[in-house]
Amino acid sequence: MYKICFVFIFFVVCAAIDIENYLKICDRNSLEVNECLVEAVQKGIKDLAGGNADLGVPALDPFYQDELKMEYNNNQIQGKMLISNIFVAGLSSSTVKDARLKADEDSFHLEIDMFTPEVKVYGEYEGGGSYNSLKLLANGNFSTTMTDLVYTWKLNGKPHVIKGITYMKVKSFYMRPDVGTMKTSITNENPDSKPLIDLGVKITNENWRLLYKEFLPFAQANWNKSGTRVANKIFLTIPYDTLFPNKS
Ligand SMILES: *[C@@H]1O[C@H](CO)[C@@H](O)[C@H](O)[C@H]1NC(C)=O
Ligand SMILES: *[C@@H]1O[C@H](CO)[C@@H](O)[C@H](O)[C@H]1NC(C)=O
Repeated sequence: MYKICFVFIFFVVCAAIDIENYLKICDRNSLEVNECLVEAVQKGIKDLAGGNADLGVPALDPFYQDELKMEYNNNQIQGKMLISNIFVAGLSSSTVKDARLKADEDSFHLEIDMFTPEVKVYGEYEGGGSYNSLKLLANGNFSTTMTDLVYTWKLNGKPHVIKGITYMKVKSFYMRPDVGTMKTSITNENPDSKPLIDLGVKITNENWRLLYKEFLPFAQANWNKSGTRVANKIFLTIPYDTLFPNKS
């Protein structure tokens, strides 16, 4: 019985030491906390690019998402699209520009300013749409390349007690990237819809800023879900006082 406890304690001690090997820890009340966080996040996105099995963090570059469903309806246009086997590549070439932390015992707010030179999103799509009486079906692969992304990650958290230990649970993840250029190309295995889909892609590329604005609410709901989930792999694994100690 005692032996098991010792082994158990030994394991916990080992696990606690390991955390500092893959995450830079910042004192939440230090005057240099923001500079520390810039380095911590810069190191984190590089070290976690391939994922981390101990923390249960999935690979971040490329980040994989199995599917995303979208529906669009206005008076004349109806559209439905399922995109699947989605990869988002490019995060690990990002530069962390700045960070701001407001953290105390009952709330947590972190903002991280990011720049990513290029992000490529690719996968498979399957969609159907109608415009008045015109109907379209298409499926194939897509690839969208975006450059010069400027954005701020905003994370909000609340304390969450698990077995007497306080963690900071992330409740919300927000970003609204400004994008420099965007270009999409697709394959379409449905010959009937080829001319119109090709035209659609041409129009999409010529008007991507407008379409990006329409698409943002879907994307943001999706980023909120996956951003919260990924962040909580870290925030709900490492106690708050270990992840953001309060030494002063
Ligand atoms: C779509 O992409 C997959 C995986 O990269 C590939 O195996 C397949 O041949 C592609 N299909 C088309 C129609 O390009
Ligand atoms: C993210 O989702 C949570 C839970 O659904 C919600 O409370 C929060 O307001 C959302 N945040 C944003 C920025 O949409």
